[in-house]
Formats: sequence, C-alpha cells, structure tokens
Amino acid sequence: MTPTGNGLLQGKKGIIFGALNESSIAWAVAEAVYREGGRFLLSNAPVAKRLGGLDELADKTESRIVWADATNDDDLAALFEDAKSSFGTVDFIVHSIGMGINVRKDREYTDLNYDWYLKTLDISAISLHRIVHAAETTEALSDGASIVAMSYIGAQRVFTKYSEMGDAKALLESIVRSYGYRLGKRGIRINAISQSPTRTTAGSGITGFDAMFEFGEKMSPLGNADAASCADYTVSLLSDLTRMVTMQTLYHDGGFSAMGISTALVESMVGMQDS
Ligand SMILES: NC(=O)c1ccc[n+]([C@@H]2O[C@H](COP(=O)([O-])OP(=O)(O)OC[C@H]3O[C@@H](n4cnc5c(N)ncnc54)[C@H](O)[C@@H]3O)[C@@H](O)[C@H]2O)c1
Repeated sequence: MTPTGNGLLQGKKGIIFGALNESSIAWAVAEAVYREGGRFLLSNAPVAKRLGGLDELADKTESRIVWADATNDDDLAALFEDAKSSFGTVDFIVHSIGMGINVRKDREYTDLNYDWYLKTLDISAISLHRIVHAAETTEALSDGASIVAMSYIGAQRVFTKYSEMGDAKALLESIVRSYGYRLGKRGIRINAISQSPTRTTAGSGITGFDAMFEFGEKMSPLGNADAASCADYTVSLLSDLTRMVTMQTLYHDGGFSAMGISTALVESMVGMQDS
C-alpha cells in the first residue's frame, strides 16, 4: 500500500544521491520525499549519465540533476554551491551510494585487490564524510538538517559473499557516529538505515544475492523490507518528528536483526535433509 502524502517534508529542501534506475532505493526515496512536499536536487556520478533513466525521475519530481562524483571534492563543492543558489541552504541529504569493486569482479576476501578495496571504501563510505565536509565548508547545510545513509547488517555480522562491502558499511556506520557528534552542536542529525536485501543494480551485483534475499525473507517475521517502505522510513528520519534521533544504525529489515532462526528456515532445512 502506497501512503498518500501528509506534507511531512513541506518546505524542506535537500539533495538525494544515488538514484540510478527505477529499482534504486534512492529512486523510491525521491518519489516519497516529493510526495511529502520535500524538494531536492538529484545527484549521481557522471558515469551514470549514459546509463539513462534519471531524466524521468527528475521530470516527475520537478527536480534538477547535478552530476558529481562523490569521491571528488571539487565536484562536491560545486554541487553544494549550486544547491545554495537554488535553495539557500539544504535541510536534508540522502546518501544512497555504494559499489564493491572486488565483489563485482569476484575477488575473494582473502585475495583482495587493494586498489579496488580502497576505491570501494572511498565510494561506499568515505564519500559520506566528503559530502558532509563539502556541505559544511560551503556553508550549505541548515541548522537542524537531517542526513541519512543506507547501510546493511553486513557491517555488524559476517555475510561471507558481502565480503569487502561489510568493511565499507562498518566504516560508513562509524562515520555516522563520529560526524554525528560534531554536527550535534548545530542540531544537525545523521543516521544510517540498515536495510533488508533489496533487488537493485548494486544488490544484484553481489554473487549469492538471491540466497541472501531468500534467507532474509524466510528469517524476518515481516519478510524483507522493500525499497518503497525504506523510502517511507527515510521520510520519517528527514522529518521533524525524529528530531532527537542521531548517530544511530536503525534496522529497517522486517525484524531480521532480532532473529536467531525461524520456523520457515528450520522447516526448509529439515526438508533438505529428508529429500
Ligand atoms: N540493494 C540492497 O540489497 C541493499 C541493502 C542494504 C543497503 N543498500 C545500500 O543502499 C544504497 C543504494 O544502493 P541500491 O541498492 O539502491 O543500488 P543502486 O545501484 O541503484 O545505487 C547505488 C548508486 O551509487 C551510485 N554511485 C556509485 N559510485 C558513485 C560515485 N563515485 N559517486 C556518486 N554516486 C555513485 C550509483 O551510480 C548508483 O546510483 C547503497 O549504499 C547500498 O549499499 C542496498
């Protein structure tokens, strides 16, 4: 069920990073933020231009696209200067960026290419630091702003096929805490949403993704959370209703993180033994 808008983000302006195509979590976030009255710039890496799609989202959300590589400080400074000229200062930032280069190229965790590993950490985690830093140094961030980054429980527990991305998400969640402390004096908050496996371009780039998805589905009392529900949760974190929540990793996973094993999984394993 798609909720209708309640004006939760009326008057708020921001930047949403990472919408690539209709299956992207950031795409659903942009639609939900727009529905709630928020207005924003869309940003993605210049290489994403040729993959197409983003114009459609920009049209339907009345937004502008500003291309910026989130690992490039000059691109980010230019983006925030641009945002300032459109909006004055921004009230929210959504970081929905990730890429595991070794994972994509099937390099095992015990045999990482370290140049790729550093690139993975830069794209998937340090980019959050770069973005917040650029927003502060360009004086583009409003007091009381809210920042949300997307994470995965592989930051906290070992999901073997998630490999280097587990390290990247652990760093991302640590940056959320470390920066959160520093931003608190301006009433700015920053949180990570730890989202269920979701069928997206980044998700399906992980070998064994289907198994992780099925496992999540069988384990979670509510089933896996989809991108649309993640978008609604993001809206709540960008809204003033959650103004005292900061520096948290918040699980949006249908209950997965509180489970040990479920009856559905036990039964499927018993079934495997019987067959
Ligand atoms: N799909 C899942 O199962 C899942 C689960 C939990 C968390 N997440 C996280 O959600 C976020 C969004 O991923 P998604 O699943 O929607 O996939 P996606 O592939 O649609 O989004 C990832 C985005 O990162 C962008 N990106 C990559 N390199 C960049 C760079 N240098 N500069 C700027 N942007 C860059 C891509 O262009 C893309 O838009 C990621 O942080 C991902 O790790 C995904």
